Amino acid sequence: MTMTLGAALFACLALATLVAAAQPPAGLGTTLASELACPEFPRPAYTEYARMARWLVHQTDWGVVSTLSRHLGGAPFGNVVSHADGPPCRPTGRLLFYLTIMDATAQDLQRNATATLTLSEGQLAGACQGVDPEDPTCAKLSITGRLELVPKEGLEEARRLLFSRHPQMRDWPAGHTFRIYELHIATARLLDWYGGPHDISPADYFAADPGAAGLAQEQAATDA
Ligand SMILES: *[C@@H]1O[C@H](CO)[C@@H](O)[C@H](O)[C@H]1NC(C)=O
Repeated sequence: MTMTLGAALFACLALATLVAAAQPPAGLGTTLASELACPEFPRPAYTEYARMARWLVHQTDWGVVSTLSRHLGGAPFGNVVSHADGPPCRPTGRLLFYLTIMDATAQDLQRNATATLTLSEGQLAGACQGVDPEDPTCAKLSITGRLELVPKEGLEEARRLLFSRHPQMRDWPAGHTFRIYELHIATARLLDWYGGPHDISPADYFAADPGAAGLAQEQAATDA
């Protein structure tokens, strides 16, 4: 079915591209399934933009956070950081980080909290098989907003959500001033198919259920 749809919509594309696109995007092969935080949440259809964004956020463990740098005189600076939105199969969509002021990212945020988190489906072993990570069918997401310290009253919950996926953080040296930060989404830009990226609003992002597509499929299979 994917092949027919792909062929009908993108008949003008080169054959090689079609073949790549017709592969089930990240079918739950053994490699991919073992890599996912929640194998029960299959990859959403590429047309489900907000759901795809939520799926990427939940299944990935790290990304690149870009800030307006201090040490480079305002030039964009990207840093690899870990993130989590909740325990496996319990996504919240919240973007939580553990950062220290000893590192450039948190220093940049002190001056200007504007930041972008970038995620690639390519980090999931077994996903994007046979296509270059820059190929549009290998999903990528950039989320922009203010990256700020989590206030005291929210710390217990934020710690629970973040440390459930990054247990080693509990043991990071107390003297190294790690603090929990949250990226408050202003906008998100997703590319997961040909035809250009799609912007996702915070409301659509939080309304989407990364598990619902899979549950609907399961229901259909049960009913059949
Ligand atoms: C932070 O950077 C953004 C993007 O360049 C800019 O719009 C905003 O005015 C800056 N804020 C401050 C406090 O400098």
